[in-house]
Amino acid sequence: MSTEELKIALILCTCGKSLETYLDFTEIQRHFELNKSIIKLFIYEDLCFEKRLNELFKAMEEMNFDRYIIAACTPQILEMIIKNKLKEKKLDVIFEFVNIREHCAWIHKDKTKATNKAILLIEAAIAKIKGANLIRKKQDSIHRHVTIIGGGISGLQVALDLCEFGFEVLLIEKNSWLGGHVVQLETITPFNMTGKELLTTILRKLKGKTIEFKLGTQIKWIDGAFGNFTIHIQRSPPYINENCDLCKKCIEICPVTLPNPLDEGLSTIKAIDMPLNPPFCESIWLNRSKCLPNCSLCEKICPKKAINLTQEVIEETIKTSFIVFSTGYELYHPKNRSVFYSKGKANILNQLQLARMLDPEGPTQGKVIQPSTGKVAKRILMIQCVGSRDISYANYCSKYCCSTAIRHAIEIKKRIPDCEISICYIDIRTPFMDEELYREAREVGIDFIRGKVGNIYYESNFLVTEVVDTLLVKQINYKSDILVLSTALLPSKIPSQIFEIANLKIKDYGFIQEYYPKLKLTETNRVGIYSCGAAMGPKLISECISEAHSVAVSIIKEYPHEVLVRENSISVVNQELCNGCELCIRLCPFGIPKLIDVNEKRVAYIDEKQCKGCGTCISLCPTNAIQLESLQRDQLFAQIKAILADAPKHDEPIILGFICEECAYATLDFAGMLRKSYAENTRFIRLPCVGRLSALDILTAFEYGADMVLIFGCEEGKCHYLEGNLRTKLLVEIMKELLNAIGWEPNRIKMYGLFSADVYKFLDAIEDAMLKSIEFGPSAARLKLKNEFKN
Ligand code: FES
Repeated sequence: MSTEELKIALILCTCGKSLETYLDFTEIQRHFELNKSIIKLFIYEDLCFEKRLNELFKAMEEMNFDRYIIAACTPQILEMIIKNKLKEKKLDVIFEFVNIREHCAWIHKDKTKATNKAILLIEAAIAKIKGANLIRKKQDSIHRHVTIIGGGISGLQVALDLCEFGFEVLLIEKNSWLGGHVVQLETITPFNMTGKELLTTILRKLKGKTIEFKLGTQIKWIDGAFGNFTIHIQRSPPYINENCDLCKKCIEICPVTLPNPLDEGLSTIKAIDMPLNPPFCESIWLNRSKCLPNCSLCEKICPKKAINLTQEVIEETIKTSFIVFSTGYELYHPKNRSVFYSKGKANILNQLQLARMLDPEGPTQGKVIQPSTGKVAKRILMIQCVGSRDISYANYCSKYCCSTAIRHAIEIKKRIPDCEISICYIDIRTPFMDEELYREAREVGIDFIRGKVGNIYYESNFLVTEVVDTLLVKQINYKSDILVLSTALLPSKIPSQIFEIANLKIKDYGFIQEYYPKLKLTETNRVGIYSCGAAMGPKLISECISEAHSVAVSIIKEYPHEVLVRENSISVVNQELCNGCELCIRLCPFGIPKLIDVNEKRVAYIDEKQCKGCGTCISLCPTNAIQLESLQRDQLFAQIKAILADAPKHDEPIILGFICEECAYATLDFAGMLRKSYAENTRFIRLPCVGRLSALDILTAFEYGADMVLIFGCEEGKCHYLEGNLRTKLLVEIMKELLNAIGWEPNRIKMYGLFSADVYKFLDAIEDAMLKSIEFGPSAARLKLKNEFKN
């Protein structure tokens, strides 16, 4: 069927007749009754009402039109409702939305001009929809297998959520125990339980679930893509087999003593040992790298012959569909900060060490002591922001420190009422209910000194800390038995090549970059790779848990079943047209296109499971080989041409704007809701992302009479497709040079980044464009169109 034969229905909504004040619906009706493509025109007052929508769907089922144009309020409200209803009713319908409320009625004072603009927008939608095809349904099947890297609180919570939804989970942990740092903590707010208690509740629920643990395991590299990742791991062999009955004779005889990492070096552990009891650690563990040469005492003494020291390190390859990084954090150790390091080192602790002292099962059985003498500490000074909020080191707040220090101080006061405790701080930050703790701390006599540490020295058994009190403006020489440093929280040490090979984006300081900081906090730039907890930055434990739930929900939502039918718009390669130039590979913000060999030719291939549908890959394709299903090239050209159809006829400047359907569209809607008026000769075309825009689209806009072309995307760093807007920024620079080269004013094209309610920036941009178009006068292309029209 030719596009001229298509039967199109036009559905207009008057929004409870309120739009009739601003738009002449009789004129719109009269105009489209003359349009041969429009077979039927419906006018509703309340399309958003369930009853009216059902009427519409009934009409769709009965009348069987080829295409539908819906001209109503913002698609941000109604479009999704209609899409979901259509899906529910299993109706395959091609429709296009036109916003005649926020983009016409609510912003233009002149009714005739607003009506003409509404007609143009509908005509442009008709032009676009004529070239539309039904979005192809894609059927994916996937093995619902997830690999979680990191067995702390975040990783375990993700594992539990996914197992409960029938996923198979592999959890990889570099240590020989589970629980990360939380297992070391004595008290956790707001849970009012110990770290071990909190973790035990999760580990207990994981018993018998579809989960496999690989402890003592390191990642070597990650390859592949969503649905088919390959992870190469290296892990310690078990050395001890199931015959072991935990008699622990091997531990007793082992001659190698090491600092116990679980107690942050406050106790020791043997090279063969059981660092924690079940459920955190299920067996005796051998740290083979620390064994003495030729020592095999443990092997010899084992009465069950359960130890085999000849085993080699195991290298394995794992296939998985999703990956979750929950790799946690490390604490900053101020080795090169002599003020905290060189003097009385044994009596300078960090908050994790203090947490271990407070644990009744810890190295001091719950007593807070001065390590050098073993005496109970009676004067304690805590120093906040050591390494954090420090422009020469970690220029961020580590978040955990204020609440942890205060909680520890209160706990010590309970156990040693005559202990004097002071907390030296820059600012106290106690979010949510922890503010209560701050109040309680002051009530129980904990002293807060707003100040900076100058020097620390040792005087007999005391540490003397010189503090400049910045409120009292005086120096205090604070004598204490121990100093407790609240040190910066740093990302876990993961070899950078792992991130490089996996093509994962990393933020400053080495934390994993979130896909979109406002809405997609736990997704990464790689489809199918997620992250949560402290791997992405300092987090409270409650945040780690909610992020873990968020990861699980995202994965479950992505693949609720092994087989999934999707109807999302993606980019499709016509491999016959593709010449393998690789431009799409360079442009795609997600690195999805690949080159493959087809019939002895290198061509682009786009994995449809991964494609997000931004259309950025299309913008520079020189052979027209890639098309976005929802907006093909010819559709956009037709839309541009139709939206500028009045250019030859009148004299006022015309501004054509391209807007992304995310933040930019939201800003335009917001301007409409605020009834902020701007020139009627400004019209907009919605794109999934401004990355979809090509040089040809911009030139087409000028060719058909736009005096100015404005591009509104999200702010830099906030594009919903990572860097679609950055690619367009580059394109705009090139286009400006091109305009300059042909003797046009380069400023006829301008690009702006908007946040989702950036109304005043948007209005200023329109005003500026209007002034510029008056200053520049009509473009040469517009003059030509006008002359042709006159003749
Ligand atoms: Fe707004 Fe990419 S989604 S610029």
